[in-house]
Amino acid sequence: MHVLILNGSPSKNRGATYGVLEHFIQGLNDGGAEVELVNVASLNVSPCRGCFTCWTTTPGKCVQRDDMDDLIDKMDQTDIVVLATPVYVDGMTSQLKIIIDRAIPLSNGKVELVEGHCRHPSRSGRKDGKIALVSVCGFAELDNFDALITHVKAISKNEHRNYIGAILRPYAWAFQEADRIGVKIDDIIQALVDAGKQLATTGEFKEETLETISREVIPPEMVAKIISMQFQ
Ligand SMILES: Cc1cc2nc3c(=O)[nH]c(=O)nc-3n(C[C@H](O)[C@H](O)[C@H](O)COP(=O)(O)O)c2cc1C
Repeated sequence: MHVLILNGSPSKNRGATYGVLEHFIQGLNDGGAEVELVNVASLNVSPCRGCFTCWTTTPGKCVQRDDMDDLIDKMDQTDIVVLATPVYVDGMTSQLKIIIDRAIPLSNGKVELVEGHCRHPSRSGRKDGKIALVSVCGFAELDNFDALITHVKAISKNEHRNYIGAILRPYAWAFQEADRIGVKIDDIIQALVDAGKQLATTGEFKEETLETISREVIPPEMVAKIISMQFQ
C-alpha cells in the first residue's frame, strides 16, 4: 500500500501539522505502508492559469513546466492521498490548494452525470483510490474543521477517490507546550500511531481512535487565554 502525504503547512517539518504527522507516519511504517511525505511549500509549483489547455490542445498535460510534472503522476498512482494542512481562515493553506487545482489534468474535460451530479471523469479510469485528511488548528472547537472537511469530501468525489475520514487536532500547539502547561497527551500520541497502523493494514480508521486524537486536553477558556497571552 502506497501512501502519499501532501503536507500543506508552510512550517514544513517544524510545524504543528508535522508534530501530528510524525506519529501517524510511524504507525503507517509499522503497518507496512510505503510512505512518501511531500512538503508542498518546498516545491516550485505555480498556480493554475485556468487556460484549460490540459483538456484541449495537450490532453492530460499542463502548459506549465515545474515540480508538478513529477507530483501529478504520484498523485494519480498512489493508493491513498493524505491531505495534511493546518486550518487557515477555515480552509486549507494556499500552498496545498495550488496542488489540488494543478491536478485537474488527471480529469477529462468532458462532463458526465454521476449520481445526478456533474463530474469530470478520471483520465486514468482509476476508481479504487482513497483520500484522508490530517489537520490541526489553533482554536479549541472541532467545528473549526467543518468547512475544510466539507471541501475535502467534495475534492474526493471530483478526484474519484473514496473519503475515509479525518485526523483532527485542535490547539495542536499544546503538543509542544504539554510539559509547560502540565498536560498528559500520551494517549493521543499512541492513538496517532494506531491510526497510521489502521490505515496501513485495513485502509480505514477506527472511530474511537479518531475521537481520542481530537479529545479535549484543556478547557476552551484556557485555550483562549494561552493564545491571547502569546500575542499580547
Ligand atoms: C493565516 C492563518 C490563518 C489561520 N486561520 C485559522 C482558523 O481559521 N482557525 C483556527 O482554529 N486556526 C487558524 N490558524 C491557526 C493555525 O491553524 C495553527 O497555528 C496551526 O497549528 C499551524 O500549523 P503549522 O504549525 O503546521 O503551520 C491560522 C493561522 C494562520 C497563520
